[in-house]
Order: sequence, then C-alpha cells, then structure tokens
Amino acid sequence: MSLLNYRIHHLKPYTPGEQPDRNQNFIKLNTNENPYPPTPEIKKRVEEIINAGDLRKYPNPISKGLVEEIAKQNNLKENQILVTNGSDEGLALLFKGVLEKKSRVILPYPTYSLYPVLAYIQMNDSIPVKIPLRPNMHFDFPKLKKKQGKLLTFAYPNAPTGILENKEDIIDLVANFSGIVLCDEAYIDFAPRDSSMIDQITNFENLVVSRTFSKSYSLAGLRVGYLAGNTKIISELYKLKDSYNLGMLEQEIALAALKDIDYFQKNINKVIQSRIWLKSKLEKFSFIVYDSQTNFLYTKPPENLPAKTLYNLLKKDKILVRYFSDEVCKDYIRISVGNEEENRELITKIGTYLSI
Ligand SMILES: Cc1ncc(COP(=O)(O)O)c(C=O)c1O
Repeated sequence: MSLLNYRIHHLKPYTPGEQPDRNQNFIKLNTNENPYPPTPEIKKRVEEIINAGDLRKYPNPISKGLVEEIAKQNNLKENQILVTNGSDEGLALLFKGVLEKKSRVILPYPTYSLYPVLAYIQMNDSIPVKIPLRPNMHFDFPKLKKKQGKLLTFAYPNAPTGILENKEDIIDLVANFSGIVLCDEAYIDFAPRDSSMIDQITNFENLVVSRTFSKSYSLAGLRVGYLAGNTKIISELYKLKDSYNLGMLEQEIALAALKDIDYFQKNINKVIQSRIWLKSKLEKFSFIVYDSQTNFLYTKPPENLPAKTLYNLLKKDKILVRYFSDEVCKDYIRISVGNEEENRELITKIGTYLSI
C-alpha cells in the first residue's frame, strides 16, 4: 500500500519551456515572454518601498490597490476580481473550486497544456475531454457545444495556435454550457481591444476570465495574474487562496506597470509590428503560419526542414523555440516574437538552413 494517494504515482507533471541560465546567452523565443523590459516606473516604486522599510510588514492579503486599479481599467466591481500568483494560480484555484469526483473538463485540443494536468492533480479522478481542433486549427464549435461537464476551458486567443476565435461564437459557447467556462485571456492584450470577454461577465454568471501580467506587461518573472468573474464565484474562490498569495513587491510592481498605460501600449504595438514582419518572412520561406493575435506564431516549416530538425538546428545556434512532440503538434513549432534584432537573427539562421 502506498503512503501517498495512489493517484500521485500516475501523475505526469506539466513541462514548462526550457529556462536556460542567463550566461548561456540563448535568444529565448520559447515561452512567450515579452522581449521588452517592463516600465522603468517599477524601479522607483521598489526603491520607495525598500527605503521606507515597508518590507518588514506583511503585504495586503487581497492585493487591494491592484484589485482597485484592475476594476477601474476593466469597468468591473472590485468584488469581481481575485488577484493571483501568476494566472496559473488562478486556474488552479478555479479547478479546485469547481471539480468534484469524476468531473468532466471539456477542452479544445490542442490548447494550453496545463489544463489536463490541473484536472489530474485535483486527484479526484476528473476527466479531461479533448475536442480536436478543426483542420484549419479553429475550435470545432458544433462538437464543443454538444459536450457538457463541470468545466469548459480554453485559451482565447488559443495557444499554441495564436488564433483568436470569433467573439460571438465564444459567447454562444458560454450561453450553451451548463458548467463554468474558463476563458483564459493570457494573450488578449495583443488582440483587438473589444475582443475580450471580460465585458460579458455581467451577462453570464458561469463565465470566469483569467488574465496575466506575464506577457503584455513583461512581468513573467514576477508571477501576477487575476481571475474576473461573477461576485458569488469569486468570493467562494477567495476561501481557497493562500492567505498572502502575493508579496508586497509583486502587488506594487504590477500596479505600477498597470498604471503606465502609454508604455504598455507602445510595447504592444512594437510586438504586433514584429509579429507581422516575422510572419511575412516565414511565409516567404514557404512556412505555413497561422493568423496570430498573440505574441507568438504557430508555424509548419516546409517539408525539407521538418519542425523537429529546425528546433534542433536553432538550439545548436543558441535560439530556443518551442517544440511539442505529441502527435498533433509534432510538425509545428511555436515561435515567440522577439525584439527586432532577435527576429532578424532567427530569420537569417533559418535562411541558412534552407540555403536561401
Ligand atoms: C494560455 C496560457 N495561460 C496561462 C499561462 C500562464 O501564465 P502565468 O505566467 O500568468 O502563470 C500561459 C503561459 O504561458 C499561457 O500560455
């Protein structure tokens, strides 16, 4: 007999993208980090906090200042928001709060690969039900709409494809689903402004939206995200979080980044311009590149340069991209948009592999 819950022996943990040491000098285009630094405002704020000696105190347990600003910027009430330690914590809290024994978790496939792991680690025999994407990589809405369960979860825009589905189709999906719908908007800031589902929270009590500071605010190292949803659901989820789930610096840095709207918007625009440039260059090399509304591209290289070979060649040349070896993804690579120099280097290297 095992000393632990026997299910733990069968769990496969989530595999994050490689994070090489800084001194290895990789161009990192593998984990959808932002290529630009966060706003310089955060340095001032950190210095103020340290100089005032505030770090000896506990942080605000519910990240109050940050919640207020998120509510203001998104036209929501403060009690519709739960700030979390990265959006991954928000997703984990929601799975914990929703799933019962043998609950079904419906998801398009592929989508963010953490969702099935989160279902399994509840250790209550919850079952991920994967609905394959259509051949054009879009959600299969008719099939998704036929499924019911405790939770329906997807990234919007989707990862790893980068594709943004039509908002009306997503609204229809939420209206049709009897359980909770988790709409993961990790990349929504790179998509048109009005595409976010956050304005639908007041219309649907079963809709929860997650957001992160990791991508558009260049703060992946900080670990800040949030859930937005119906007041009743959010107040229940508060019971599951760690008492101080965010440190003082995390709260204050995220708040400073949120307030510097100009800086944020300039960075977003630069990334979008680079995304367009990168896509056109890859297409000139006969790559199939899906229309992305994120800070990454999902692409199938031409037959004479298979995805895995390309991944390995680039790695040898100190450029990391993301390769997923499972059956549906094995012919594709996912490339995060880098800064202009990094993108040029990537394109030059690919050109040499193709002898162009
Ligand atoms: C779709 C999606 N959701 C959530 C996350 C996690 O974000 P965070 O850094 O806020 O935990 C990622 C990270 O890559 C992601 O791709």
